[in-house]
Amino acid sequence: MKEKITIEEKIKKIRQGRDLSFLDLCSIDDLQKSDLELIFSLTREFKKQAKTKFSFLKNHTIFNAFFENSTRTRSSFELAGKKLSADVINIAGSSASIKKGETLLDTAETLDAYQSDVIVVRTAYSGVPYFLSKHVKAAIINAGDGLHEHPSQGILDAFTMTEHHKSLKNKIILIVGDILHSRVAGSLLRIIPLLGGKIRIASSETFIPRHLKKTFKCDIFYDLEKAIENVDVIYNIRVQRERGSNGFIPTIREFSKSFSISPARFAKANKNAMLMDAGPIMRDVGIHSALVPHQRSFILRQVQNGLAIRQTLLWLLIDRHDKRKKSFEII
Ligand code: CP
Repeated sequence: MKEKITIEEKIKKIRQGRDLSFLDLCSIDDLQKSDLELIFSLTREFKKQAKTKFSFLKNHTIFNAFFENSTRTRSSFELAGKKLSADVINIAGSSASIKKGETLLDTAETLDAYQSDVIVVRTAYSGVPYFLSKHVKAAIINAGDGLHEHPSQGILDAFTMTEHHKSLKNKIILIVGDILHSRVAGSLLRIIPLLGGKIRIASSETFIPRHLKKTFKCDIFYDLEKAIENVDVIYNIRVQRERGSNGFIPTIREFSKSFSISPARFAKANKNAMLMDAGPIMRDVGIHSALVPHQRSFILRQVQNGLAIRQTLLWLLIDRHDKRKKSFEII
């Protein structure tokens, strides 16, 4: 008689002989296509077992060091760690020693001294996760750094796109909104080409960094009506007032008139096109309220997938760290 295997054993079997190619997740540039294949295959399993508590990360410690506000990212990393039986500790911006004059590095080294396994960091400064990864033994996960990247968001978005479209090969993904101030856009611009997708950018000239066309493979449009034709995904990027976006456009209302996604505009995309937004959503500024519950709006699916993606990332990174501790010593 065939022996019954547990769900944990089944998940372990899926990853047998496969591992990530990186120790810290600071940027999508750290990833190879094979990493995404591994992450996606495990995520599908974690997603099927959304109510299950696993023991994969028992006796492991995760710090969420969020020096900027977050709802989705922080709660999903916390929940993901808890669902894998890790001890999860949140260091919120308001209680941070940084406010008392401690450097970010001293704070990170303090968390590292507890022999923590992962430090998930969100910061207003681009490059901080990369800098910290060179100084602490814990794995660093970038949960958003300044105007640079938000890689776990990019991964969950790419996963969500492939769930619907199966493959992104030759699919057209339109990213519309405040590209200049968006770290989500930074990760999407890197991950979509890795999966064979084509990128269109639509925004006002002032919201598109000058280097974009040279650095990334993308087509730039200043007219949303033209950009939206025949696209397979519309990804809205909100105007980021907290980063000073107001200084780049006449008014939010004015920008919204030209670049918000209305039902009429959505109808110009392909029949099977997805509507996406990392959130927080700005109803009727970025996406019209009537479209939020649309059957092809994937906003809450992104949130749901974010949990399973982060379960996968935490497990894989901690396991890889256990096997291959960073080679430097903290002085
Ligand atoms: N998508 C995202 O980063 O949302 P939060 O700011 O709520 O984490």
